[in-house]
Amino acid sequence: MAVRTKIIGTGMYVPDRVVTNDDLAKLMDTSDEWIQQRSGISTRRFVDGETPADLAFEASKRALASAELDADDMELILLATLSPEHDFPGTSFFLQRRLGLEDTPCVDLRAQCSGFLYALSTADAFIRSGQYRRVLVVGCEVHSTGLEFTDRGRAVSVLFGDGAGALVLEANEDEKDSSGILQTRLHAQGEHAEKLWTEAPGSALSPRLTQAIIDEGRIFPRMEGRFVFKHAVTRMPEVLLATLNAASLKLDDVDLFLFHQANLRINEYVAQQLGIPAEKCLNNIQKYGNCSAASLPMLLAEANETGLLEAGKIVTLTAFGSGFSWASAVVRW
Ligand code: COA
Repeated sequence: MAVRTKIIGTGMYVPDRVVTNDDLAKLMDTSDEWIQQRSGISTRRFVDGETPADLAFEASKRALASAELDADDMELILLATLSPEHDFPGTSFFLQRRLGLEDTPCVDLRAQCSGFLYALSTADAFIRSGQYRRVLVVGCEVHSTGLEFTDRGRAVSVLFGDGAGALVLEANEDEKDSSGILQTRLHAQGEHAEKLWTEAPGSALSPRLTQAIIDEGRIFPRMEGRFVFKHAVTRMPEVLLATLNAASLKLDDVDLFLFHQANLRINEYVAQQLGIPAEKCLNNIQKYGNCSAASLPMLLAEANETGLLEAGKIVTLTAFGSGFSWASAVVRW
């Protein structure tokens, strides 16, 4: 039997500091009503001195505990983020140090809100090729230190939160066990790179950072919200259906649909378009906001902890984000 990649551990971690919509309304012209109505978000978590690697470490510890493995059982660390600890080296190296590992290879992977699925798909390919048997896959973001909490930044800054999620993957060679990642599909369209981006600091600029760049707000994320919304509600159903089709499955076969947590309205619209009943979808954006590459592994960890993922269940993970990038994975639990 061909090797299949099995998810054997899940974990998530968010910082303790809860930030409400009313807290944000003290900093900018916004309201609890506007934020909830447009995005579904009530609260998000912000760090209070923790770094991305701190969040990734806590999520990884939990994933390892749930897999009943130690950090040194991992043969590769793949970490997806758009908010790296530093310019370089990658956040995965700081995580590796926190995990007490000496020479485990580390890779940071950048595909924004689809980053986790890009990392999952890459880890799956490594495992199926036989190069590694066990891989730690992490999604981790600290957005709060890079948002503009003023009227100018309000359209973006109310949407994002900090958090981390992690999975432990293992090669499954048991012929009687049909669980694991069944299919993944990845897509990108660089044509729209500037529709949702943070321009600076960046090596395309010389110097990379000036006072003028800061004053103009080019260090903060900028988004054409409606344009992004329209593409998200088209691309997510498209890639979900294509991935299910590749796995010879239908929408009705799926027990749990997990969509990236960018906006509850996007997910409700997609579910409605596809005729997916609300009880087959899980969302946590209400509590955590958009945690980009961390959103899907956090959601999967919550699903696992609340007992939604019994053996044999079919679960899909689907994302859309900056790049543009979009992706989907189908897993038999
Ligand atoms: N509070 C109050 N008002 C706000 C606001 C805020 N935080 N942010 C923007 N507004 C105002 C705008 O200035 C605008 O005012 P105007 O009509 O006087 O010009 C009005 O609200 C509507 O803004 P608009 O951007 O058109 O709102 P929208 O209905 O498109 O909703 C988003 C905004 C961001 C919620 C929505 O476009 C969206 O979810 N887009 C996709 C987001 C996404 O998926 N991002 C990440 C992908 S990973």
